[in-house]
Amino acid sequence: MVSYKDLGLVNTREMFKGAIKGGYAIPAFNFNNMEQMQAIVSACAETKSPVILQVSSGARKYANQTLLRYMAQGAVEYAKELGWEHPQICLHLDHGDTFELCKSCVDMGFSSVMIDGSHLPYEENIALTKRVVEYAHQFDVTVEGELGVLAGIEDEVSAEHHTYTRPEEVVDFVSRTGVDSLAISIGTSHGANKFTPEQCTRDENGHLVPPPLRFDILKEVEKRLPGFPIVLHGSSSVPQEYVDIINANGGKLKDAIGIPEDQLREAAKSAVCKINIDSDGRLAMTATIRKFFNEQPDKFDPRQYLGPAREELKKLYMHKIVNVLGSDGKAQ
Ligand code: G3H
Ligand code: 13P
Ligand code: ZN
Repeated sequence: MVSYKDLGLVNTREMFKGAIKGGYAIPAFNFNNMEQMQAIVSACAETKSPVILQVSSGARKYANQTLLRYMAQGAVEYAKELGWEHPQICLHLDHGDTFELCKSCVDMGFSSVMIDGSHLPYEENIALTKRVVEYAHQFDVTVEGELGVLAGIEDEVSAEHHTYTRPEEVVDFVSRTGVDSLAISIGTSHGANKFTPEQCTRDENGHLVPPPLRFDILKEVEKRLPGFPIVLHGSSSVPQEYVDIINANGGKLKDAIGIPEDQLREAAKSAVCKINIDSDGRLAMTATIRKFFNEQPDKFDPRQYLGPAREELKKLYMHKIVNVLGSDGKAQ
């Protein structure tokens, strides 16, 4: 048993208190490798933003869970070395799907876990979530649950259609499970194709315009759970410039579209205090590397393309922190 407290990590409790009070959201960035971790930590150290480092079960398989945990411990030391006096870094399991997986993360030093029972029948979701909460809370590890299903297909997360969260269920779910935060479905989804062209309209330049998020559902949830931390998954904006660079350099991303940043900014000012971003980072890295390969075909040292990719990622994360989430300066 390893306690996250001995690794210098924090759970989400104080982070979310600050976010609710201050009208901002904590960034939850996924990581699978060293360059992503370095970019996240250096962006957060420079902006003094609290951060949630997220590990999916796919990431655990890809990178080895022991290594990831040591990387998170290393992230705290790296942050201090960069001059961030009191780093607020949470190591979080993203989309845990079984009690055993959540337990294993709690036991090996994660400070927060998500148990995603959103695809289960309601009562089964409650029973599974409650079991994880009872275990995790013994070690002061915070737990995120989910109600409502997000559409989208990724390695480990897939659903064909989304089902919006039903506000009439949230009080019962939160009180019966004891979760510390709740992920809801209001129209976001995972990946780089969040809407089909048929679901969108077009602006005067012919660019796709997605349907707006269901802020009415969010408001209804907030009314029923005042001051309770809400989480938004699937919150990448899919910057068109990255999609264009990828496609101009041999990529084939068709009809890629994300959530407009002004809507996320608005959400961050509400009870939404954790915003999950993974795909935008994938796009930033891929765009940089594709362009590099195309322009400099004689180069083969991975540092020559991973270095600029890491810089681009850092730029992206700083932009999200300062211009979208508003979490800069909240962890001195
Ligand atoms: O929500 C899912 C995250 O983007 C992680 O994706 O399962 O491909 O690692 P992944
Ligand atoms: P995106 O695919 O929109 O980046 O969402 C990531 C996410 O929700 C991770 O849990
Ligand atoms: Zn997610």
